[in-house]
Amino acid sequence: MSNNALIPQSKLPALGTTIFTQMSALAQQHNAINLSQGFPDFDGPRYLQERLAFHVAQGANQYAPMTGVQALREAIADKTAELYGHKPDVNTDITVTAGATEALYAAITALVRQGDEVICFDPSYDSYAPAVELSGGVLKRIALQPPHFRVDWQQFVAQLSDRTRLVILNTPHNPSATVWRKADFAALWQAIADREIYVLSDEVYEHICFAEQGHASVLAHPQLRERAVAVSSFGKTYHMTGWKVGYCVAPAAISAELRKVHQYLTFSVNTPAQLALADMLRAEPEHYRQLPEFYRARRDVLVNALSNSKLEILPCEGTYFLLADYSAVSDLDDVSFCQWLTKEVGVAAIPLSVFCADPFPHKLIRLCFAKQESTLLAAAERLCKL
Ligand SMILES: Cc1ncc(COP(=O)(O)O)c(C=O)c1O
Repeated sequence: MSNNALIPQSKLPALGTTIFTQMSALAQQHNAINLSQGFPDFDGPRYLQERLAFHVAQGANQYAPMTGVQALREAIADKTAELYGHKPDVNTDITVTAGATEALYAAITALVRQGDEVICFDPSYDSYAPAVELSGGVLKRIALQPPHFRVDWQQFVAQLSDRTRLVILNTPHNPSATVWRKADFAALWQAIADREIYVLSDEVYEHICFAEQGHASVLAHPQLRERAVAVSSFGKTYHMTGWKVGYCVAPAAISAELRKVHQYLTFSVNTPAQLALADMLRAEPEHYRQLPEFYRARRDVLVNALSNSKLEILPCEGTYFLLADYSAVSDLDDVSFCQWLTKEVGVAAIPLSVFCADPFPHKLIRLCFAKQESTLLAAAERLCKL
């Protein structure tokens, strides 16, 4: 290295390559069936692809408006009204982002100031903590317990302080596959009503919910939605995680602030993809209406195929993930177990401890069932030999 080379002091010293990238690489190296990272091994709707090609050919290839193309924001507003009984303002409340990840980052950056406390529930999705840290916030993690991973609202209230600024929740929940009830939102409102606390509700699996009562969105709660950012992802809904188009819905004053971040982070999102998604939402609403059935069938294939294995399968009410307890199979910790499973058994999974800050004493792994039936059956056959 020359004497002129500089090594920046890291702003995120504790972070390395994510476990998702690591496990996918290990899976490839060992030719393992990859049930680790959350992406489908099948393609999205033809109509959506055709509309993308159509809009590219039509010359819709220049910058989109900063907030998202009008047709897409209108379609989102109508879908939100239909599903959650609240029609967000097309111009002020909806922002199209580069996947849900950008919406989460923009919201956290806009709302969290130096020294603010942010509450999240562990296990939690891995993009929240670094965003909070970069904003100078202090993350307070509340550990949820298997098998039901429900919030203890007394414990939650005990975590509140004068510095609490934001609560981050995720329903349907990756990785536990549990969903919030309306009663949870009611309890959250009761706890924070008298304080200046915002809510960031990560609902990227809103259309993959198997619970009898359906998906409870923060947008369906009349008071909470006045201080909430709800985040969605087209990647999850249309099996197109590589398109990286998502959006968020928030009241005008909050949207105005998060748009300031979005404006200088990406400015705007892929134009022809947005136009294609607007067409898709209008032309084939049955796609998202039938999505629970579509994924329930895949979940059941995997659950049934594992019924004779030594793995204990936890309840799954939403998302395309399933948790399995391997206590009867191995004494290894979950990271070592997943490495062993990939190399020796040929199935890649995600260890649950990577979603938690504190040591995670349980022996749980996450399996992704957004896969073709043949993939799921082949993986289950290997897992049944454990
Ligand atoms: C809970 C959760 N939030 C956000 C995301 C990111 O979504 P996107 O790919 O649209 O950025 C994911 C993707 O796996 C997720 O599981």
